[in-house]
Formats: sequence, C-alpha cells, structure tokens
Amino acid sequence: MKATPVFWAFAGLQSLAAAETIAEINGNRFLSPFAGKAVSITGLLIAKGPKGIWIRSTTPDDDDATSEAIYVLSNSIGSELAIGDIISLDGEVSEYRSSDSYIYLTEITVPENVQVVSSGNAVKPLVIGKDTLSPPTVQYTSLDEGDIYNVPNGVANISDKNPVLEPSKYGLDFWESLSGELVTVKAPRAIKTPNKYGDTWVVGDWAVTGENKHGGITMSDKDSNPEVINIGSPLDGTKNPSDSKMGDQFEDITGVVQQAFGFYSILPLTAIKTTTAASAAAPPTSLISQGKCNALTIGSYNVENLAPTSAHLPNVASQIVEYLKTPDLLFIQEVQDDSGPTDDGVVTANATLTALVSAIQAISNVTYAFTEVEPVSNADGGQPGGNIRVAYLYRPGVVSLYKPNKGGADDATQVVAAQGKGKGKGKAKGYGVAPELSFNPGRVDPANPAWKDTRKPLAAAWKAKGASRPFYTVNVHWSSKGGGTSLHGDQRPPINGAVEARTAQANVTGSFIAKILDFDPTANVIAAGDFNEFAFVQPLKTFEAVSKMVELDEAVETPAEERYTYAYDMNAQALDHMFVSPALAKSKTTQFEHIHVNSWAAFNDVVSDHDPSVALFDLCG
Ligand SMILES: *[C@@H]1O[C@H](CO)[C@@H](O)[C@H](O)[C@H]1NC(C)=O
Ligand SMILES: *[C@@H]1O[C@H](CO)[C@@H](O)[C@H](O)[C@H]1NC(C)=O
Ligand SMILES: *[C@@H]1O[C@H](CO)[C@@H](O)[C@H](O)[C@H]1NC(C)=O
Ligand SMILES: *[C@@H]1O[C@H](CO)[C@@H](O)[C@H](O)[C@H]1NC(C)=O
Repeated sequence: MKATPVFWAFAGLQSLAAAETIAEINGNRFLSPFAGKAVSITGLLIAKGPKGIWIRSTTPDDDDATSEAIYVLSNSIGSELAIGDIISLDGEVSEYRSSDSYIYLTEITVPENVQVVSSGNAVKPLVIGKDTLSPPTVQYTSLDEGDIYNVPNGVANISDKNPVLEPSKYGLDFWESLSGELVTVKAPRAIKTPNKYGDTWVVGDWAVTGENKHGGITMSDKDSNPEVINIGSPLDGTKNPSDSKMGDQFEDITGVVQQAFGFYSILPLTAIKTTTAASAAAPPTSLISQGKCNALTIGSYNVENLAPTSAHLPNVASQIVEYLKTPDLLFIQEVQDDSGPTDDGVVTANATLTALVSAIQAISNVTYAFTEVEPVSNADGGQPGGNIRVAYLYRPGVVSLYKPNKGGADDATQVVAAQGKGKGKGKAKGYGVAPELSFNPGRVDPANPAWKDTRKPLAAAWKAKGASRPFYTVNVHWSSKGGGTSLHGDQRPPINGAVEARTAQANVTGSFIAKILDFDPTANVIAAGDFNEFAFVQPLKTFEAVSKMVELDEAVETPAEERYTYAYDMNAQALDHMFVSPALAKSKTTQFEHIHVNSWAAFNDVVSDHDPSVALFDLCG
C-alpha cells in the first residue's frame, strides 16, 4: 500500500529499528511469509476492538499489494493504549481461520514488550477509491480463471496456491491488500437486507457494475460484484440496524478491513446510521389478463415451505392478489404436505393448497383450482417431513387441463401422438400435430437418478379459453446450491453446490421438452420455476441446448441488471426463470416482469426468500 497520510514520514523512528515492517509481514500474497515466526514491529494504533488492536506501519512501502496495517490479537493489550499511540511490540505471526472453507486472516498473536513510543498522533482513515485503488468490479481472484462459475469448481485453494495479489484486477486481492487498514466508505448504500446479525452488504461512492434501478447490484455473466463489501459487527459493541434494505443510504462508514467469519468485511467503529430509506413498495405487475387465450397471464412463485398453518400463508395470498393480479395459471414451488414439517408419512397437500386458495378467494373473487402430484415421503429433499413439491393453481374458467389424467409419484408422463388424429405427411404418425401427455399432470422421468432427493418436475397440458390447441408447461424446482462455498471462500472457483446434479436435471427436463417440440416445433411450451441456478451457468446452458427453449428475459430483452428474483450476500440474482418455446419467444404479445415484493422488503416484512414473476402470452394457436 502506497503512503498517503503525512505523519508516516516520521524521522526519529529509524533508531527503534523494528526488525520487520508490517508490509514485509503481510507480504504481497494472501499468506504471510513470516507465518509462525517471531517478529518485532512498530505501528500507529488506528483502532481498538474487543479482542485486539489494529496498527498501521510507520515505514510504509510503495507496493499496492502489501497492506500497511495488521491486527494484533490480545484480550489484554488495548486498555492501557490509546488511538494515536505509536507502539512497538514483539509477537508471533499467525494465520487464522475458523473453518477450512475460509481464507486466512494474518495476525500478530502473543504480543509482548509493548512500548508506547509517542502519543497523540493523527489517525486518518484511508478513503476507499481516493486514498486507495478502487475496488475491482468483476473478478474475485486469478484462480477463478475469468469465470467464478466455471465447472468443475474447487480446482484450487487460495491457501495452497497463495497467488501474488493484483489489487487493481481482483476483488479478493484488493480487500486482502487492505487487511487491517482503517478505511472510510463514502456515501454507502445497502444492497440488500442485513442478516440476523446485522451484517450489511454495501457499496460506496466508487464505480460499480450491475447497479439495478433500486440501488442493488445484480450479477451477470462472469461478473459477481466483488466491489460490494460486508459491514460486520461494530467495534464499540453497538448493533447495526436490522431494518435496512436494498437502496437505503447510510452516513459514511469508518472501520477496519478484516477477514471475519469467511468474508472480507469492514468492522465499523460504531453502528451504521441510515440517512435515507429506500421505498419497499414494489409496483404490482402491469400485465393484465384478458380472460381468454389472446392475453393470458402466467406467474411463478417459490412460496418458501408453505404449510396449511404457515404464518406467511395469508401474505402469500395477498401478494398473489395485489401484486401478481391473480394470474390465470400460477406455477408454485415449495408447497409442503398437509402436516407441514411434521415427519409423519403424510404426503397429501390438499389442505395446504385449499388453505392458499381459500385465502386468495377471501380477498378477491377469484377461485383457483389446483393440481399436483404427491411425492413419495422424504424422497424429494427439502425440510425433512415437509415433502415440498411443485403445484399449479389455475382459473378454471380461463384454463383447463387438456385431457386430464393425473399420474402418481412413480408415473413418468410421456409425450405421445394425439389419439385418433393427425397423420403428418411423410412423418411418423402424429408428428407435426399437438401431442398429448400420457399422464396429465405427470412427473418427468421420476425414476431417473438425476432426481435423487430432489423435486421432480411436473408437466401438464392445458387448453386456454378460445384456443385451437393445447399448450404445455413444466414446473421445476431443481436441487439447491446447499453445500456450496461462498464467493469469498478459499476454494476456487467456489463450490457451486449440486451443480452436477442440476446439469443432469437440466438434461432430463430439456429432453422431455425436446420431445414436445419434435412433435410440433411450433408448440407453445413454458418451463418455469426455481431452477436454483443463474442463466449463464452450465446447467441452464445445458437446458437451453437440449430443450431448444429460450430464456424469457432474453426474449423480451429485460435489462441485465433488472434480472433478479433473490438477494444473496453481495448480489441480486436470478434463481427463478421462465423459458419458452421459439413460437412464444417470437410472439409480439409476450411480456415478462419480475415483481420485487421480497428482495426490496425489510427483514421482518419478507414473505418468501424469492420474488415472483409474471408473464403474458397469446396462447390461442
Ligand atoms: C481445498 O481445501 C479443502 C478443505 O481443506 C480440501 O477439502 C480440498 O481438497 C482442497 N482442494 C484442493 C484442490 O486442494
Ligand atoms: C381437500 O380439502 C378440502 C377442505 O378441507 C375438502 O373439502 C376436500 O374434500 C379435500 N379433497 C380431497 C381430495 O381430499
Ligand atoms: C366480488 O364480487 C362481488 C359480487 O359480484 C362484487 O360486489 C365485488 O366488488 C367483487 N370484489 C372484487 C374484489 O372483485
Ligand atoms: C443427456 O443425457 C443423455 C442420456 O444419458 C446423454 O447421452 C447426453 O450426453 C446428455 N447430454 C448432456 C448435454 O449432458
């Protein structure tokens, strides 16, 4: 780190002749070249915390890659020292982490022979982006080789490769190069609700990429936003506000950069203070059904472990009415069985779905019908005993199942030639005409090992009011990213939990849809739900290639930064998608909106962890 504040030019200190400078101890890599060694250092006390102090070098070097500050761990050291003291001490260089999935923190332990050299020196925080480089906005580390979602994941560990820091290029290198420093974030803005500890992800007044209209930062292909930094627990024991949310503006934040609980964080001197709160009021969908095939609305919503007695059930119902405007057909995910998470062998969800339909009916005049297929108990993952599954709500006057024939948990629905008609010229019998599903609704290849411990997609064929032919839907909830590691983690690229499982699921789901389009390349097909994956990552690339479906955000050209249904750590991101067949992708009627009822809400007002989406289609022919 280059010197800026003037007091570093400290003449008399040379005589103290500290054996190592702090920059030498930190080195220009993640791990210290002095790890495990005894050192003698001199530095300016810049901050005090409950378990130690941070000191800044009085003899800085000229290298942006080497931090000039370091943490000194000690329960006893702080009390007799004051901010602004220049001190010398002996200690041992240590690399610490509490989990082997974290990056190490370089610190000085067992400090002894602590001496105050002088007192009352000025302490000036480094303003990020002014006194330091600006945080890189795209890449995290050289070990990700250009794409943090490359497969395979976890091919290298930072703790093993220990690359030379390039703080102007890579986000983790940038934050590591400031480890221990006292910094100021000017004009900070929250990019999501804090977690339950008050950890708050922010950006400052530096350049960012992916800024959405609400002030969040949205990830895109190969850009997962390392410029966003976590504000951790305040050093003075106060607590960050729990009610901040995406887009809220804060007073300037000053604190120390520290690797804490697996994330580079700024531990503020005192709690964050909000200056301007963003609106939590998401606009409702502008897409309105005409009640017949020429303009039909279709929504999708992961309702987060919905059980008949869920406290959030009435709020889900009111969101469906107020914000989604009771779409004609609604794909829902995470519907639990009638006994909720009680592990009692119950798999029916009639009570859950009836409760939701009744709650919707009570506040609108809309009476939904529903359909789903009960899973085998505890075979589809999720909360044990909850037996989450996907389901459809539909408005019977507007859409109806086409030749209904509900399958069971083990019945694989097949795409079959229309019965009793259609002899496509020069083609196999039935090709070129609307196919049927052998089970409607029916599960897609439920015995395929790709679906072990996860939700099976539910396919259905429907007839819209006034339509001349059916349309087809596949409601998905692929395996979650559980078991993955964070974007700030040691393993590179980070472990994208269950990515191989989702790629296999993409192939099975995609192959099923491809059969519909083989029969009739002009068929109207909609696949939607919680794919648990980003559009630009392998599973969805596989899905597009195998199915020939088009991502609806692409078809309607949603701006890249407005494509999000979820806020996680530093990123607004899209785990939920709709994909449509080429006919619907080309149709001028097709529209699509993400409704940010949850990603904009404060912690206590969040109804589900996902945002719903609504589309409008012409499904007449
Ligand atoms: C990275 O570290 C983890 C945890 O120690 C270990 O399980 C994994 O094998 C390591 N990966 C490589 C590529 O060395
Ligand atoms: C579903 O639940 C409703 C309300 O409790 C009840 O009237 C209906 O008979 C149930 N249907 C089935 C198929 O169990
Ligand atoms: C529901 O229907 C009743 C009777 O037709 C009508 O008076 C009322 O305005 C309707 N409410 C809504 C929310 O549409
Ligand atoms: C999809 O699965 C089939 C059958 O197992 C396999 O032959 C094919 O290579 C897979 N395709 C992709 C893209 O994974």
